[in-house]
Amino acid sequence: MIKRSAIAAALGLIVLAGNAGAATTQGAKAAATTTPGASAATAAAHVPSLVTTTCSACHGPAGVSFVPTFPNLAGQGAPYLIKQINDFRNHTRADPQAKSIMWAMAAAIPANKITEIADYFASQKGAPGAPENPQLVAAGRAIYLGGVTAKALPACAACHGSSGLGVEPLFPRLAGQHQAYVVSQLQYFKAKQRTNDPLQIMQTVAGKLSAKEMQEVAAFIRTL
Ligand code: HEC
Ligand code: HEC
Repeated sequence: MIKRSAIAAALGLIVLAGNAGAATTQGAKAAATTTPGASAATAAAHVPSLVTTTCSACHGPAGVSFVPTFPNLAGQGAPYLIKQINDFRNHTRADPQAKSIMWAMAAAIPANKITEIADYFASQKGAPGAPENPQLVAAGRAIYLGGVTAKALPACAACHGSSGLGVEPLFPRLAGQHQAYVVSQLQYFKAKQRTNDPLQIMQTVAGKLSAKEMQEVAAFIRTL
């Protein structure tokens, strides 16, 4: 298990790195080049049966969903996926869509299958970027890569990586994620309906974003 103090130290370093984010960005690139290949080799051979019978209906057989409020899981970091499945199971992720859909889905996963299912989605190829709302992308790019100095909003890239690939184990991949899903999560964090983020880090970040900025940054993330 990751100690809370270790998480605090990691987050502190990243916040200190601030908008420049040079060190963490390089870290993200290094993680991106080493991690997916390793897990793909071990997990690609076998599709867990629960994925075929249940999860694929919403998250798509290739881990890329057709409904924009259902998240893509393909290429997401396995440690993040395991944390979310456990958070749904123990009800610490308790936003409205978690309660109405994912609590029951996660409860149906046998405890000894969680890692296998997470590794399977992690090994899938991430969704390719798509320009859903081109007119919002430039404003979203500025927020994602540079933050908003006047609001002391850190760059998203400082934690999620400049290409949105995430940094394991704590920081999820955002690249190519559906715009509607990203906006829903930012709203849940801001409203304190999703509270499973370590040290309330995303509640603080989303609390500084206006509704318009959420749409813009989500439109940029969709293109990554
Ligand atoms: C009926 C549709 C549906 C099915 C079936 C379903 N999910 Fe989900 N899943 C969702 C929705 C909607 C969310 C977003 C929940 C939220 O907003 O909190 C989600 C979120 C998730 C997340 C969190 C992703 C993230 O980026 O934070 C994981 C992990 C996940 N589902 C895994 C699974 C697994 C594993 C199964 C199969 C056992 C499954 N889901 C079945 C609809 C579904
Ligand atoms: C200081 C680090 C940090 C910064 C800066 C940051 N995030 Fe996050 N973000 C996180 C962490 C940690 C999580 C995972 C929370 C959890 O474990 O549930 C997360 C989760 C998310 C999620 C949910 C992903 C999913 O699949 O459900 C979204 C969306 C998100 N961040 C968007 C953003 C955006 C947009 C910005 C910039 C405006 C941003 N983040 C800035 C650390 C950060």
